[in-house]
Amino acid sequence: MVSDAVIAEYFPALQQDIGGNKLVYLDSAATTQKPQCVIDAITHYYEHDNANIHRGVHTLSQRATQSYENARVRIAKLLHANRHEEIIFLRGATEAINLVAQAYARPRLGEDDVILITEMEHHSNIVPWQLVCEQTGASLEIIPICDDGSIDMVAYKTLLSENTRVVSMSHVSNAIGTINPIKEMCSLAKEVGATTVIDGAQATGHMKVDFQEINCDFYAISGHKMFGPTGIGCLVGKYELLQEMEPWQGGGDMILTVSFEETIWNEVPFKFEAGTPNIAGAIGLGAAVSFIEELGYNTINKIEDELLLYGTQTLREIEGVTIIGTAPHKAGVIAFTLDGVHPHDVGTILDHSGVAIRTGNHCAEPLMKRFGLNATCRASFSVYNTKEEIDKLAAAVKDAITMLG
Ligand SMILES: Cc1ncc(COP(=O)(O)O)c(C=O)c1O
Repeated sequence: MVSDAVIAEYFPALQQDIGGNKLVYLDSAATTQKPQCVIDAITHYYEHDNANIHRGVHTLSQRATQSYENARVRIAKLLHANRHEEIIFLRGATEAINLVAQAYARPRLGEDDVILITEMEHHSNIVPWQLVCEQTGASLEIIPICDDGSIDMVAYKTLLSENTRVVSMSHVSNAIGTINPIKEMCSLAKEVGATTVIDGAQATGHMKVDFQEINCDFYAISGHKMFGPTGIGCLVGKYELLQEMEPWQGGGDMILTVSFEETIWNEVPFKFEAGTPNIAGAIGLGAAVSFIEELGYNTINKIEDELLLYGTQTLREIEGVTIIGTAPHKAGVIAFTLDGVHPHDVGTILDHSGVAIRTGNHCAEPLMKRFGLNATCRASFSVYNTKEEIDKLAAAVKDAITMLG
């Protein structure tokens, strides 16, 4: 049973010193640390059950298949999918969005069609659509954001038209933490008949996501940002749409029969899982889901909301710090700049104190441009962080100002 008393103790990588200081890990938006149960699940698979799945009659293969498919069922339950076949295992959110772009959008779009994305997207939710536009002649239009980093809903409503065929947006911005009103945005998109895609990479490790309630068509998740291993993620897609779609990649497991004359596709979700999948990754993600369930999103939200509030107040009080992104609904991400100091220099100095933050454009160059910046510093929180760690961040930021400002 996971207790919220000392959550950091479940994470072995957090129990180390960097440069003589206890590690303060504030880069969870890039990837979360992994709890021991996830590491154990992966190790157990390789030590006891290692075999290929779906095609073996021997015991190891059956065990591996069972664990892999159990993970699918757990994820479906966590995200309240309509059925577990709606979960497709992929490399991550990037691959999930590319799959929708290529296997759903590309065959259906042409000139005059419009794909709408927001100004705050991660490159993973920009470039796949640019590729589809090049391939089909469709055009990409951008929903602007307001100065506080929230979606300009008036502009969104104006942009929606009968030509809008796809609306794709992040649930939570990795760069500024804004939580977007995706349920409302999906409902507005549906009114004009558009297909909706949500990039949920930054959401599922932090907040309850209900696929049925959001009522989007596709939802992309990233395993490594929700305590799971790297190289695993999922696409959740409405079953009827997944059935309509042609496969994206060909190979083993995605077929029922193959002859040189004709190949018949396997059923959803296997139709989209060509080749040997990341079996250990899926099992590790299943363990991460159990970890989240045991802790509970209520606990996660409570801790992260307090950290966001305290971190925002603490950093705001430091002269020379500007916080970028102050939308009313935010997840535990604080982007900031220091007057006259390059973010990379701040990041390097903080690392000497054991404080790990992210600096750069956060794979969101258009968003940086919107704020007239090339880069920011970003502190992002997870359930294992504490207010004391925020105090250490603030102290290290003050040191950086003294040294560089
Ligand atoms: C908002 C957002 N979308 C997509 C991605 C890409 O996710 P993945 O690493 O699972 O491909 C990231 C990763 O940083 C992200 O923050």
